Amino acid sequence: MPQPPLDAPPFDFQPLGRVIFAPGALARLGEAVRAVGGTRALLVTDPGLEHVGHPQRAAQVMRDDGLDVFLFDGVKENPTEREVDAGVVFARTHHVDCIVAVGGGSSMDCAKGVNFILTNGGRMIDYKGHGKATKPMLPSVGVPTTAGTGSEAQSYALITDEKSHLKMACGDKKAAFRVSILDPELTLSQPKGVTAVTGIDAVAHAIESFVCTKRNAISSMCAKAAYRHLEPNFERVLRAPSDLKARSEMQIGSHLAGMAIENAMLGVCHSCANPLTAHYGITHGVAIGLMLPHVIRFNGPAVGALYAELTGAPAATATDALAARVAQLTAAAGLPQSLKECGVSDTILHLLAEEANQQWTARFNPRPVTEVEILRLYQAAW
Ligand SMILES: [Fe+2]
Repeated sequence: MPQPPLDAPPFDFQPLGRVIFAPGALARLGEAVRAVGGTRALLVTDPGLEHVGHPQRAAQVMRDDGLDVFLFDGVKENPTEREVDAGVVFARTHHVDCIVAVGGGSSMDCAKGVNFILTNGGRMIDYKGHGKATKPMLPSVGVPTTAGTGSEAQSYALITDEKSHLKMACGDKKAAFRVSILDPELTLSQPKGVTAVTGIDAVAHAIESFVCTKRNAISSMCAKAAYRHLEPNFERVLRAPSDLKARSEMQIGSHLAGMAIENAMLGVCHSCANPLTAHYGITHGVAIGLMLPHVIRFNGPAVGALYAELTGAPAATATDALAARVAQLTAAAGLPQSLKECGVSDTILHLLAEEANQQWTARFNPRPVTEVEILRLYQAAW
């Protein structure tokens, strides 16, 4: 008699788009835009990138290919509706027919946000959740310049609510980039601090998506591969920033981790990070690095066997080994090791726990959490 599958959760896998990886692949941006039917491109980027020249080179490559390019550099870190609206006004003025994002997660999120409002109208909150856009959206191309968020592999725009400072996840398959161009040469210019916080975020994406309740065969494959690319190379890119091979591994790893999230979800570590960013302006990756070892130890009793599968360590010690390894990585990167060190008051932990519990990624954590467990996680990290 056929045996029933032991652990085969359902999935509905729809590859999002084309992915081009190669050192120097930025040179193919014009070709990629043409392939999706673009002639007048909105180039969304953040002003901090101009001094390294990536947006200018991207614009030149497209112009050399005969495309019209309109550069919008109004992106800020953790973009809000204000930046999205400014991008929409700019895009309307120039009658663009495609969107190109060049930058880190904030540029890519903002570009997706602009696409929602430009094509479907309304406000970002109308698209909170998934699949709320009813009209077609513009084709878009994503060119990450950091190795971390994996936003180029996802259909979600993370837009910060201006009042609460918490992030809204607005997703739609139509908002996903039709083409992602992964050019590791673009990541060579990341300062050490950016390499550290984006890299640890990517590691967290692999670890959290591998064990979350929505994990399945596709997401597990991506998460495991992502971890194998990221874990051995994180310290290498910190030590040798111009090591193109290690940079390539990190960029491929962060993309695969983004694919894992797209096909599964995250967990309570990401829920805990968002209120820290909202109240104290702590960078996402710093908050993630602080919380992750504690989340791994908390989840251990439920998913220790999965941690063993992910890392290849014996089941009995895999949880502690993984938590210690993450702490080792954040220490190597010079990232803070406690919330106290970041100026977080212990009197606010209850409020943070209440807010973190409302973040939807908490619902997908492999070990169920309420405010009580989340408070304990914050206390452990304090
Ligand atoms: Fe993240």
